[in-house]
Amino acid sequence: MATYHKFLQVEGLNKSFSSENETKTVLEEVSFEMTFRDSLAIVGPSGCGKTTAILAIAGLLKPTKGTICFQDRIVTGPNRDIALVLQEYGLFPWKTVKANIMLGAKLQKINFSGRWLETIKNELDINGLDNLYPAQLSGGQRQRVALARALLLNPRLLLLDEPFAAIDTVTRERLQNQLLLVFQQRHFSYIIVTHSIEEAVFLGKRIIVLSNGTPSINTILDNPGMGEIGYRNKPEFFDQTRKLRAILEETP
Ligand SMILES: Nc1ncnc2c1ncn2[C@@H]1O[C@H](COP(=O)(O)OP(=O)(O)OP(=O)(O)O)[C@@H](O)[C@H]1O
Ligand SMILES: [Mg+2]
Repeated sequence: MATYHKFLQVEGLNKSFSSENETKTVLEEVSFEMTFRDSLAIVGPSGCGKTTAILAIAGLLKPTKGTICFQDRIVTGPNRDIALVLQEYGLFPWKTVKANIMLGAKLQKINFSGRWLETIKNELDINGLDNLYPAQLSGGQRQRVALARALLLNPRLLLLDEPFAAIDTVTRERLQNQLLLVFQQRHFSYIIVTHSIEEAVFLGKRIIVLSNGTPSINTILDNPGMGEIGYRNKPEFFDQTRKLRAILEETP
């Protein structure tokens, strides 16, 4: 597997949206780096620019200023090593589960073996759903189908924008565990955007707190204890959630 000097480097990222009579700056001076097999959570108040940042990293939004460098190259458009999972799942209601899972790979003309497909379905516990349609699935199952579609691409960077938002707490924790287990078995990095303090602390080795102020990054919280399922029950986990909550309360 190729190794890169810089896996992901976001440097001085600014993003403004202009309409006829005003320019609105959403992201200012956002800089951070990520290594391969690293994990990052992004939290912050609604409207502070989390989705904007994710879309810029995915190559779907052009920065107004600054650079995003992925695997030693400046990001100028979508990259086949980056996969994105959005909150609304992005599933096509008229396609079966199996067709939905294979859709991303087909669109990008990425070959995959039947074995790889089966492995992913097993890891996410969604085998047996192949011929159902999204409307016949629960929210948690839909979310796993969306995750399977992204993982089938064998991405080196997985971007998750509030992937588990519409799911009950127990199922949500199960999905977080599954993501963590897949992450430990596979070779990729991920960035997860979330509004949940617990989810950020459970899944992010570092947690970026974005704000509506300038610069956009309020704090980057190190979270070295993250990485095992049992972390949720450790005193350190509670300390970190308390710390993050206090930071968020102070964040404009
Ligand atoms: N294409 C666009 N044109 C104009 N303004 C935009 C565009 N996309 C986003 N914005 C504005 O940028 C700001 C940040 O939006 P963004 O979706 O990144 O926020 P967010 O942090 O993801 O919020 P949430 O937590 O609610 O998902 C918002 O004020 C939004 O209205
Ligand atoms: Mg958003």
